Amino acid sequence: MEKTVKKLLIIGASSGIGLWTVQKALKQGYAVRAFSRHAEKMRIRHDRLDKVNGNALDAGNVATALKGCDAVIQTLGVALNLKMLTGPVTLFSEATKVLVPAMAEASVNRLIAVTGYGAGESKHYMPLWERPGFNMVFGRAYGDKDKQEDIIKASQLDWTIVRPVVLVDAFGSGGYKEFTDPKQFRNGIISRADVAHFITKEIGGESYVREGVVLRR
Ligand SMILES: NC(=O)c1ccc[n+]([C@@H]2O[C@H](COP(=O)([O-])OP(=O)(O)OC[C@H]3O[C@@H](n4cnc5c(N)ncnc54)[C@H](OP(=O)(O)O)[C@@H]3O)[C@@H](O)[C@H]2O)c1
Repeated sequence: MEKTVKKLLIIGASSGIGLWTVQKALKQGYAVRAFSRHAEKMRIRHDRLDKVNGNALDAGNVATALKGCDAVIQTLGVALNLKMLTGPVTLFSEATKVLVPAMAEASVNRLIAVTGYGAGESKHYMPLWERPGFNMVFGRAYGDKDKQEDIIKASQLDWTIVRPVVLVDAFGSGGYKEFTDPKQFRNGIISRADVAHFITKEIGGESYVREGVVLRR
């Protein structure tokens, strides 16, 4: 009998954690739809990969991209620039407002979304001395990630929220730890490859459905 290949929609696939997840998912035998505004510029090629240029804020783009997919991985990011530091950040919440009803409409129930340590309840466990600097640089983005998490948690989806600490591109995969107990939440570093490793493991194993997980080396 022909094996059914699970197809993943990765929103924010063209760089960072999203790109690492594309590579790892393909290696593990998944079919992948890589979605971002510039997906077609991705150099990677594979017969189980299709690249879709689209905007996560556009309901039509997202509905079309969901067709034939079994699960969604949301790894959207904004550039760390003056606009992010001084202007409003709405990408995370607005894209999630588009995604959640579109997934319900398409009967796609599994969502793994990357936010970050400092979003949702994890911010309450950040040491007091760390908060002013964090808020000054990331306050706007993480304020919007809080809203993103609230939308996801209020949904009927089988969601997992992934909260990596500071991302680096050094190190390969493996050797990171997973925390759901807030008493163990604290900052540190983790590689994007490790976050992608966790995401693909979670798609296969589903250990943290309706939970937020902090990842740290
Ligand atoms: N930097 C850190 O230390 C840190 C720590 C914890 C958590 N995080 C979070 O981890 C996540 C991933 O970060 P990263 O640095 O690995 O990723 P990244 O390089 O910032 O990649 C972001 C992705 O989002 C896509 N994107 C942005 N706007 C889009 C839109 N409107 N529609 C469709 N796609 C869009 C980009 O592609 P296009 O430009 O082609 O659209 C790109 O593929 C972010 O949410 C970040 O805040 C970061």
